[in-house]
Amino acid sequence: KVLILDFGSQYTQLIARRVREANVYCEIFPCNVEFEKIKEYGAKGIILSGGPASVYDKDAPKVSDEVYELGVPVLGICYGHQLTGMYFGGVVAEADHREYGRAELYADKSDDFFADIEDDSFVVWMSHGDRLDKMPEGFKTIAKTDNAPVAAMRHETRPIYTIQFHPEVAHTKNGRQILENFVVKICGCEQVWTPRNFVEAEIERIKELVGDKRVLCGLSGGVDSSVAAVLIHRAIGDNLTCVFVDNGLLRKDEGKQVEDAFRNQFKMNLVAVNAEDRFLSVLKGVTDPEKKRKAIGNMFVRIFEEESSKLGEFEFLAQGTLYPDVIESVSFKGPSATIKTHHNVGGLPEDMKFKLLEPLRELFKDEVRRVGLELGIPENFIWRHPFPGPGLGVRVLGEVTKERCDVLREADAIFLEELHKADLYTKIWQAFTVLLPVNTVGVMGDNRTYENAVAVRAVESTDGMTADWAHIPYEVLGRISNRIINEVRGINRVAYDISSKPPATIEWE
Ligand code: XMP
Repeated sequence: KVLILDFGSQYTQLIARRVREANVYCEIFPCNVEFEKIKEYGAKGIILSGGPASVYDKDAPKVSDEVYELGVPVLGICYGHQLTGMYFGGVVAEADHREYGRAELYADKSDDFFADIEDDSFVVWMSHGDRLDKMPEGFKTIAKTDNAPVAAMRHETRPIYTIQFHPEVAHTKNGRQILENFVVKICGCEQVWTPRNFVEAEIERIKELVGDKRVLCGLSGGVDSSVAAVLIHRAIGDNLTCVFVDNGLLRKDEGKQVEDAFRNQFKMNLVAVNAEDRFLSVLKGVTDPEKKRKAIGNMFVRIFEEESSKLGEFEFLAQGTLYPDVIESVSFKGPSATIKTHHNVGGLPEDMKFKLLEPLRELFKDEVRRVGLELGIPENFIWRHPFPGPGLGVRVLGEVTKERCDVLREADAIFLEELHKADLYTKIWQAFTVLLPVNTVGVMGDNRTYENAVAVRAVESTDGMTADWAHIPYEVLGRISNRIINEVRGINRVAYDISSKPPATIEWE
């Protein structure tokens, strides 16, 4: 395994994902973690990430010098390159002009670091202000660009490599190969981090940890909780009980699909609670989005507690926490930042006395999907778009009623069906329909209508933090609009949302 020390770069997670894609396990620690922890971790290689600071800043983040003396290979990227250069006696200077974007890299391909690369030169992505002007003694250049005489260097006798460019970003050609070369050829890591190995090891770990105790799992039907539940079920069978709360704010047929898959297909202990009436009753007359969220969240907690108390004693509560949530809580946010504890407890109260079981907390989303496929979970669960906890509660704008949810469900089902047919569903990050709180005038046959309008929303994104509207072909949009207006009673207008986030958000409420 490999350890990545984070200096606050926006790309640190990408480094980890690239390393994992080479089937090598890695974790991220903040750069200022005590050396003892680094040593204890026992990595076969250490990667120092980039970061926003300058090595000359007053509070410039540093890493314990002992890291260079541990005897394991070290790779410094960008800030890590400059920091390492300084440590060994090189000179870092403010570059005349900052360098952002592409540069042509000329690499010494006789070094293992650039093994299995065919191009004589290739495009790499730069993003830095400072640069290493004078190489430290004992190092040699292994790559340069027109603007950076030392775009990559290595220690002459020790496995210490540093590079100015970013191999982790998609714009760097051969970047994946370079990181694979480092972790496999130079660090000597075995490429055994695969979904199958993860599943086997995790099942063993869960068996050992849980023993014959009971585990409670809140199932939402989303990919994370589904994969977590199936994995735990493989380990402990009927000692796992899943509670699925159908709040009446789900998509068309979603409740049935969840029940069918987990009860009939996976033969799991599933307690499904139909609580539509209770949710709708607390939403009556509520139009403010945050009040709706609160009402839905509180009701969920109440029902979850009621159900779990009927089911006897549980030692563990299972959650689908993912690695990005974990990193968020430990990532390096500057020298004085305090570490905040993370919470991913879909609104569950803190006084529930459970131990947490989080089998996915080491995984990125794409890895969760691969693990899910390995476990035989149906594709329609694996590729499901993110769906907010309050569901249609925040997609029926204004007051939420059963009738309005039903109208929205029909329109939304048509929208998704057409996206599937056009082979667009998996290319889109999230897509859904919003029922607007206005009526609009239309004409059907010879009659004037005055009915609902819906907006359809589809966005491209990688993490939901920023998003662009998806450029769905006009023909597909045309079909969607036609079908919704013709097939759904009560809708006479369809609009397509072409706002990006920011400044808009993905949801409308
Ligand atoms: P926004 O609308 O903030 O959404 O751009 C970003 C992502 O978060 C989801 N979302 C929620 N998820 N509870 C959730 O569990 C919520 O209240 C909530 N609001 C938004 C949204 O669907 C998108 O994926």
